[in-house]
Amino acid sequence: MQISPPSYVQHQGLIQWVTSIAEKTKPARVVWCDGSQQEYDRLCEEMVTSGTLKKLNPAKRPNSYLAWSDPSDVARVEDRTYICTDRKEDAGPTNNWIDPPEMRKTLDGLFEGCMQGRTMYVIPFSMGPLGSPIAHIGVEISDSPYVVVNMRMMTRMGRSVYDVLGSYGSFVPCVHTVGMPLVNGQQDVSWPCNSTKYIVHFPETQEIWSYGSGYGGNALLGKKCFALRIASSMGRKQAHGTNPGWFAEHMLILGVQAPWGKKYHVAAAFPSACGKTNFAMLIPPKGLDNSGWKITTIGDDIAWIKPDAQGQLRAINPENGYFGVAPGTNEKTNYNCMASLKENVIFTNVALTDDGDVWWEGMSEAPAHCIDWQGKDWTPEIGKAQGRKAAHPNARFTVASVQNPVIDPEWDNPEGVVIDAFIFGGRRSTTVPLVTEARNWEEGVYMAATMGSETTAAAAGQQGVVRRDPFAMLPFCGYNMADYFAHWLDLGDKLARSGARLPKIFCVNWFRTDEQGKFVWPGFGENARVLKWMLQRIEGKAQGVDHVFGVSPRYEDLDWSGLQFSADQFAKITSIDAQSWKDEFALHAELFEKLSHGLPSVLLSTKSALESRLKQRLAA
Ligand code: GTP
Ligand code: SPV
Ligand code: MN
Repeated sequence: MQISPPSYVQHQGLIQWVTSIAEKTKPARVVWCDGSQQEYDRLCEEMVTSGTLKKLNPAKRPNSYLAWSDPSDVARVEDRTYICTDRKEDAGPTNNWIDPPEMRKTLDGLFEGCMQGRTMYVIPFSMGPLGSPIAHIGVEISDSPYVVVNMRMMTRMGRSVYDVLGSYGSFVPCVHTVGMPLVNGQQDVSWPCNSTKYIVHFPETQEIWSYGSGYGGNALLGKKCFALRIASSMGRKQAHGTNPGWFAEHMLILGVQAPWGKKYHVAAAFPSACGKTNFAMLIPPKGLDNSGWKITTIGDDIAWIKPDAQGQLRAINPENGYFGVAPGTNEKTNYNCMASLKENVIFTNVALTDDGDVWWEGMSEAPAHCIDWQGKDWTPEIGKAQGRKAAHPNARFTVASVQNPVIDPEWDNPEGVVIDAFIFGGRRSTTVPLVTEARNWEEGVYMAATMGSETTAAAAGQQGVVRRDPFAMLPFCGYNMADYFAHWLDLGDKLARSGARLPKIFCVNWFRTDEQGKFVWPGFGENARVLKWMLQRIEGKAQGVDHVFGVSPRYEDLDWSGLQFSADQFAKITSIDAQSWKDEFALHAELFEKLSHGLPSVLLSTKSALESRLKQRLAA
């Protein structure tokens, strides 16, 4: 197989690896991607010809495209995602595990000849600013041009990666195929994929193999596979002796300028499709301190967080773009996001309007007619009658970060920004109050570890059921979850011992509902009121009540200027129901039972302490 690397690729190990993958997968040709605009435009044009992309009306949405996936390939496949470590207990009970030799045998069979008749693309990328000491390089081999153009927005992709890599640099090899070879004159389809899917990680050898899907986190391997699963395992492995290691987290990072003249940085972990993009771009309401508040985005999905020499936790966003949820996004819920989407966007699984633009549920009033994400005629009447949505609930946009009008000036700083607070938040229609401050690091880790959330369309499977989603990392932790809790506790402990001040930890819930199932809290921009309280707490300037599992504001502790929200409504989203919490603790116990191997004992003692507080309250 002739793979003819360009002269600027000097890394023999990389060339050998690409050769070996080409020999196995047998593509018709190999293309070494350079990341240029010309390459991007050429691939998009080719995909318009092949039917994978539709070019949107340039008068409405310049330089933008729409892809419709196969209806069977619309979200991450958690039950097909594997962490293959030598010892099963190193993957832990929350991950699917298969013995590495057995998995390699399976992959060998699947990848043999899997790219026949297709082009194999070699995609060099950096997670984090090029050349930054905290960045890591990956190379993805893929037979999907859709993956190439998405990776160009989502990562720092292209020729300059080879300058950093040099002849001997290390990189994470990522192999991806849609799993549909074109043999015996078989015609291609607009969204090739395979009903068999495998998303496989070998954290010990730092490799990723993905088979059968072309969608999002299954296929853009720099994102969940590398920047979360492999990176979380790297960050923990580096913790030994006095080295505290680091964190790879499912967190947005935002900058917030307070009216009192200080700038803060906050990292927040919410599960998939639970509001990270919204929170990272939120516009504080005008009434709030007339709004002397300004929020800027550093990242909307992933944070790499490392202690600096002073013991301060510094975070970078390893990504270069946003792969965000479209449905529900509009100028009221997320103005800055809509502004980011004016041009140069790839949309996936939204509807196509008659004037060549896009539409999704919640964007604006429904058009009288459009073509839905499955290519069928859609009108509001048809939609209603058949219960059919115009856009898939996990429809997404891909756009470069620099298009965000409120991008933080520090977003690209290789040093990262100092984190002042961590926020954890699930989607809970009951039980969990609007906001709670943990009284210390251990209680914060406990809150994050026991977080529950109702499942969303971001992953295939049942929706709307509460499951434990520790740290919003359930689908993304590349090692044993109990060891992950221990890593959080140890890192906090090491920093505290070195005299560093740890960020405060808060837990939020925007999603409590009333008897009619409607959200009680207005959310979105109004979440800034909660953020204000948190920052005031950091400054020791806000009151709250100390209750069963932390400190929460009373009605009078939040700033309500410019918003009609009654004390009764507030009670609905902050009440702590003793029976619900008894049930909740039983679910925590179930989680801890499952994770008992290696579970830090401090979590069990924290649980006992919280439960006895609850008992006292019940007795009182
Ligand atoms: P991933 O990209 O999947 O990791 O998700 P994300 O956390 O970035 O989710 P995103 O911000 O895109 O939010 C997805 C959904 O949450 C949309 O349907 C929003 O309308 C909804 N949402 C976001 N913020 C709020 C809020 O404050 N209140 C309510 N009720 N819904 C919200
Ligand atoms: C998520 O599901 O948390 C996402 C989207 O951010 S995906 O990249 O598809 O995983
Ligand atoms: Mn995510």
